[in-house]
Amino acid sequence: MHMVLRHGTIVTATDIYQADIGIHNGLVALIGRDLHGDSILDADGRYVFPGAIDPHTHLELDSMDTVSADDFYTGTVAAACGGTTTIIDYAEQSQGGTLRDALQAWRDKAENKAVVDYGFHVSITDATEEVLTEMQEMVTQGVPSFKCYLAYPEKLTDAELLRVLLRAREIGAVVNVHCENGSLVDFMTDRLLQEGKTEPRWHPRSRPASFETEATQRAVTLAEIAEAPLYVVHLTCAEALKAAKRARASGRPILVETCPQYLLLDVERYDEPDFGGAKYVMSPPLRERWNQQVLWNGLVVGDIDVIGTDHCPFNLVGQKDIGRDDFSKIPNGMPGVETRVPLLYHEGVNKGRISLNRFVELVATNPARIFGLLPQKGTIAVGSDADLVVWDPDKEMTLSVENLHMNVDYSPYEDVTVRGYPEIVLSRGKVIVRDNHFQGQAGSGRFLRRKPFVA
Ligand code: URP
Ligand code: ZN
Repeated sequence: MHMVLRHGTIVTATDIYQADIGIHNGLVALIGRDLHGDSILDADGRYVFPGAIDPHTHLELDSMDTVSADDFYTGTVAAACGGTTTIIDYAEQSQGGTLRDALQAWRDKAENKAVVDYGFHVSITDATEEVLTEMQEMVTQGVPSFKCYLAYPEKLTDAELLRVLLRAREIGAVVNVHCENGSLVDFMTDRLLQEGKTEPRWHPRSRPASFETEATQRAVTLAEIAEAPLYVVHLTCAEALKAAKRARASGRPILVETCPQYLLLDVERYDEPDFGGAKYVMSPPLRERWNQQVLWNGLVVGDIDVIGTDHCPFNLVGQKDIGRDDFSKIPNGMPGVETRVPLLYHEGVNKGRISLNRFVELVATNPARIFGLLPQKGTIAVGSDADLVVWDPDKEMTLSVENLHMNVDYSPYEDVTVRGYPEIVLSRGKVIVRDNHFQGQAGSGRFLRRKPFVA
């Protein structure tokens, strides 16, 4: 045995027990008592979680005349320091381009930089017949999930989304949908700007919860017609959740993701002075606070399956400030890949809202199951990759741009103190983080070929 992780309390989506973990050739080789190995890592008094999976990141994304501030090195270092050992990033089809080119472009961005394992979803922005045919090749290449936008210039029409859903069903893929009514957003944005309403606080008014709810209902309806699985990305509000819930009640494979920002931050953030509201300009926007309780309930009762991040950071200085005189020009997105797991642990587990098992399920096991990575990732079992997090439940950390690793000049959670933080993080059996210091190697992350979707 190369290494033994000794005396930790192992937590999976279903179990909590104390045992040693024997690691050999990057895999969990044995789980038992009194194991011996070439080296020993002591985990006494700490939890051992499966490395978390963030199924929603945008690293090095060209967006609104700039590029998201984390590349595959800084973004995955930050992920690892926060306990995330797998990401699934979005490769974007360019207008008129092929899915093959999109996937290759993103694989090239990641190859020599990523420090944790990674997969890709491919976003379909141009749903031609050729592209629908090409979807099969993506599944064969280990990309069994596609994204469609109902907002932004890349938005698909209803008929186009329906075609993608029908095709996805045939080939064992799931379609991730960004649910906002883009035509209404465009109309409302123009109207607000014409009225001279240009500050960040008008961003949420340009895309209210009702626009998200309508688009969520529409995506659900189209998925029902196609009898295809649907994964609603970054759901923010009570009414949209209701729409998804109704379809789930009739047995449809409708899966729902939310993000920490929608559980913890609210629309009042846009009123921060001195252009501070720009920090939270993302789509969909933060909502009124009362929605948060509904989302937490959804996590508890199982109406929400996954916590992702939608990590898409832009610096306040030099990027967000492109939109100082026009909120619609502020690059959309926020940092989050490093803080997701500690925030959910602190706000969820410490505050008694969710159990330890449910926590692991939301940040690791469900993303692995839905996106074709289980049992290689997302759990701790003999034969799984030794992507492991030794978690110190007593470690307090005050989150700040000073001690976080994301390559961005602000933290939306500046000065928030969490209790519970990764002490050691292993990627395929190698220690890559110790006490918030990264000690792995650029390019050590591998491209993951994921399995087709199973309902
Ligand atoms: O504002 C956001 N969410 N930016 C990233 C792209 C997306 O919509 O997911
Ligand atoms: Zn996104």
